[in-house]
Amino acid sequence: MKTDFLVIGSGAAGLAFALKAATYGHVTIVTKGEMSECNTNYAQGGICSVTYAPDSFEKHIHDTLICGAGKCNPEAVELVVRRAPELIKDLIAWGTQFDKTPDGRFELNREGGHSEHRILHHEDLTGAEIERALIESVRRHPNITVLEHHFAIDLLTQHHLGEFVTRHTRGLACFGAYVLNEKTNEIETMLSKFTIVATGGCGNVYSTTSNPVVATGDGIAMCHRAKAITENMEFIQFHPTTLYNPSEKPNFLITEAMRGFGAILRLQNGEEFMDKYHPMKSLAPRDVVARAIYREMTKRGEEFVYLDVRHKDPDSIRSHFPNIYEKCLSIGIDITRDLIPVTPAAHYCCGGVKVDLNSHTSIKRLYALGETACTGLHGANRLASNSLIEAVVYADQAAKHAATLIDKVEIQEGIPDWDFEGTQHTEEMLMIIQSKREMQSIMSNYVGIVRSNLSLHRAMRRLSILYEETEGLYSMTKPNRELCELRNMIAIAYLVIKQGEELKESVGCHYNNDYPKA
Ligand code: FAD
Ligand code: SIN
Repeated sequence: MKTDFLVIGSGAAGLAFALKAATYGHVTIVTKGEMSECNTNYAQGGICSVTYAPDSFEKHIHDTLICGAGKCNPEAVELVVRRAPELIKDLIAWGTQFDKTPDGRFELNREGGHSEHRILHHEDLTGAEIERALIESVRRHPNITVLEHHFAIDLLTQHHLGEFVTRHTRGLACFGAYVLNEKTNEIETMLSKFTIVATGGCGNVYSTTSNPVVATGDGIAMCHRAKAITENMEFIQFHPTTLYNPSEKPNFLITEAMRGFGAILRLQNGEEFMDKYHPMKSLAPRDVVARAIYREMTKRGEEFVYLDVRHKDPDSIRSHFPNIYEKCLSIGIDITRDLIPVTPAAHYCCGGVKVDLNSHTSIKRLYALGETACTGLHGANRLASNSLIEAVVYADQAAKHAATLIDKVEIQEGIPDWDFEGTQHTEEMLMIIQSKREMQSIMSNYVGIVRSNLSLHRAMRRLSILYEETEGLYSMTKPNRELCELRNMIAIAYLVIKQGEELKESVGCHYNNDYPKA
């Protein structure tokens, strides 16, 4: 199969890129499940953009830089904040409906770390609304082909032509990907002028996460194997408030917008506690709140704290948060009258594949977008609701950049088809499930909200056994989705631990007890 643009992933980043790039050439989107299975579909709070005074670009830039704790790339921050209103207009043109007040102005949410209300939203289902509008636009577009149930296994580079090229060799380029058609079980060679990795995040590396099961870090792992540069992987953001409901996976999110609306965090004994940790109390930046909850829970041997919104008007609660209201009611919690038990869970990968301002990676003809990419916007800790806007701004940057190169690039000939059939080991699926659980518990126990040199070291030792066993299995077997996802998650875990070991300080989402913060 040959195409101009091979887009891997059908979240906000992949779909927005496809809609932009289809003007310049044919786009093929491959996605490993149904189109809407992605983190985007679960986003609740909304999407940031400076809309009305007294908000300003300067304030949004300032909040993003403060939250990023000195690790942001100021150019990336400027770019996203200043281009956001333009891309919001595109989302609206593609059919997204954001909530408005009776006088016709956009209704704006506020979340942790924001000095102003600046988050456009659609009830508490913003991601699903954006995803719906993008999918409908993509389905209608004559120059875009969508292949669901197509799992990208690996990127194609000079290594597949038998050439030895290192990361430091100028000229390492990407020619497409090997993709497993999950319906036929065939591995297809998909060749492209440009490859766009938009495979989302990696929350499933941990035992508890807000991310759907598709978030296994495939794209970051593929890029790492292809020798692209990754960075900031140690900055895994934990969302402070997911619903404590131990039998449920993934953890259901209780949006931070509820704290922006006035909800207060309380201990199980009813006391408020965030005033001990930050002047912005329950609306402090996310890393601060997650760590405060973690400390209070471990000190008391408890597994959750409470979120309290009972003091707000019940009709207003139901109209702002209909999805959360219904969900909690389904397990016997009426949020207008009852406290909501919440606990932190792995939520967002602030790092990823290092890209420039055009979302281009360190490998030619390869772009990374959305949660897969590390643009420098988030630094050590992402400001809430900055990721959807980053995904669409960088999708536009990448499409424009690729358009300037498309006439100079040819489809690469001579890439061999996948030729290894392998065998199926009888206990393979059991081994994969067990290894996945082990890896998740290693990461949750030793590489969670608070780490130490010893815990990182232990995690690496334990992970290396899983790595060897999984690579052994992979070398004997015809790849299937579960095995590839496990292999990818182990690669992600390795990058989080290794980059965490290299950072000799506590900053943002990476808190190491051996380098206590002043
Ligand atoms: P995704 O939307 O995750 O899409 C990735 C796609 O890649 C999926 O279609 C997946 O199936 C596909 N894929 C993965 N691996 C492969 C493979 N090997 N082969 C083929 N396809 C593959 N951000 C905000 O800005 N505001 C919010 O309010 C907000 N709320 C959130 C709430 C929740 C519960 C979660 C989990 C996240 C939230 N975020 C929010 C973060 C935000 O949703 C994500 O960062 C963003 O949607 C990522 O978009 P994406 O396109 O990069 O990835
Ligand atoms: C939320 O709604 O709390 C999530 C927002 C985000 O992760 O950006």
